[in-house]
Amino acid sequence: MGQRLRRRSALVTGAGRGIGRAVALALAREGANVLVCDLGVAMDGTGSDQGPAEDTAGECRKLGVEASAYSADVSDFKATEEMVRACVSRFGSLDILCNIAGILRPRMIFNMSEEDFDRVLAVHLKGTWNLCRHACAVMRQQRYGRIVNCTSEAYAGTVGHSNYAAAKGGIVSLTYDVAREMGRYGVTCNAFAPRARTRLSVGDDQDQGLQKRMEAGLISEERLQGMEETRREGADPEHFAPFVAYLASDAAANVNGCVFVASRATIGVWNHPAIIHKFTRDWEIEEPWSIAELEKRVPSELLSEYVNPAPAKA
Ligand SMILES: NC(=O)c1ccc[n+]([C@@H]2O[C@H](COP(=O)([O-])OP(=O)(O)OC[C@H]3O[C@@H](n4cnc5c(N)ncnc54)[C@H](O)[C@@H]3O)[C@@H](O)[C@H]2O)c1
Repeated sequence: MGQRLRRRSALVTGAGRGIGRAVALALAREGANVLVCDLGVAMDGTGSDQGPAEDTAGECRKLGVEASAYSADVSDFKATEEMVRACVSRFGSLDILCNIAGILRPRMIFNMSEEDFDRVLAVHLKGTWNLCRHACAVMRQQRYGRIVNCTSEAYAGTVGHSNYAAAKGGIVSLTYDVAREMGRYGVTCNAFAPRARTRLSVGDDQDQGLQKRMEAGLISEERLQGMEETRREGADPEHFAPFVAYLASDAAANVNGCVFVASRATIGVWNHPAIIHKFTRDWEIEEPWSIAELEKRVPSELLSEYVNPAPAKA
C-alpha cells in the first residue's frame, strides 16, 4: 500500500468493470477513499446491475480505505450532481474524478440509427461533461482537484464507430478546455486513451467486426494487423492503472491539458493539434483567395506529404 493519495477522495465512473475497476483499485492502493460509480450495464448500455460496483467497492475496502458503491447513469445531469454530492458528504471532499464509464454501439455511419448516435454521445461526452461540470464547482471552492478523462485512439478516426469517435474526440476537446479554465484553481484535467483487454475491446463480436471490415476493403490487411498488435499489447488494465493514480497525485500537479496513451507496454503523449504547413497573404490589399490559386497551392504547399486515409475505389 502506498500513501500518495492518503486522505484524498475519488469518484470513479465505470468502476464496476474493466479499466474503471482497475483505476479505482489503483487509487485505493495509494490510500484514496473511493466512490465506485457504475450502472452495471451491458456493452451496448442496456440493463443495469448493482453487483459490479458493490464488488469493486468491497475490493477497495479490503485495501484498507473507505469505499461505497453508487449506481446511477452518468448521462443524467441531475443524477451526476447527486453523485458528486454523495462523494462530498461521504468523504468530506471530491479531490479526484476519473470519468471512465463507456459503451459501444458500432455500425457503419450509413446504417447507424439516431438512437445509437445519441446514446453513445450521451454516455461518453455528456456523461464526462456532467461530472466535470459538477465536480469543478466543488474543486474550484477547494482550490484543488485532479480530473482524468478516458478517451480512445478512435478519436483520431476509425471505421464503424462514428458515434464513439465523435464522443471521444469531444472528450479530448473538453479536456483541453477544462484544463485551461480550471488550472488557476489548482485543478488539473488530463485524458488517457487506454489499450486493454476488456469486454469492450476483445471478443468474438469485435474479431468478426474487424474481419468483416477488412473483407469489405474498409481497412487494409496491414491496418488489421496493426490493430491486432495493439490488442495483443493490451492487457489487464491493472498494468497501466497506476499511471492514472500518478496523474491524480501531487507529483503531477503541473501536468495539465495532456492526452496520453496507456497500455501494458507503452505510455505516450499525443501532440496538441497544430498547423503544420500554411501559406498566407496580405488580406488588407489582396483579392479573396481564387480557386485557381488554391488548386495550385494546396497540393504543393500544404499537402505535399499527405496521404488520403481512404481513397475512392473503382
Ligand atoms: N478496452 C479498451 O481497450 C479501450 C480502448 C479505448 C477506450 N476505452 C474506454 O475505456 C472506458 C472503459 O471501458 P472498458 O473497456 O473498461 O469497458 P467495460 O465495459 O469493461 O466497463 C465500462 C463500465 O462502464 C459502465 N457504464 C456504462 N454506461 C454507464 C452509464 N451510463 N452510467 C454509469 N456507468 C456506466 C458499465 O456498467 C461498465 O461497468 C470506456 O470509456 C471505453 O470507451 C477502452
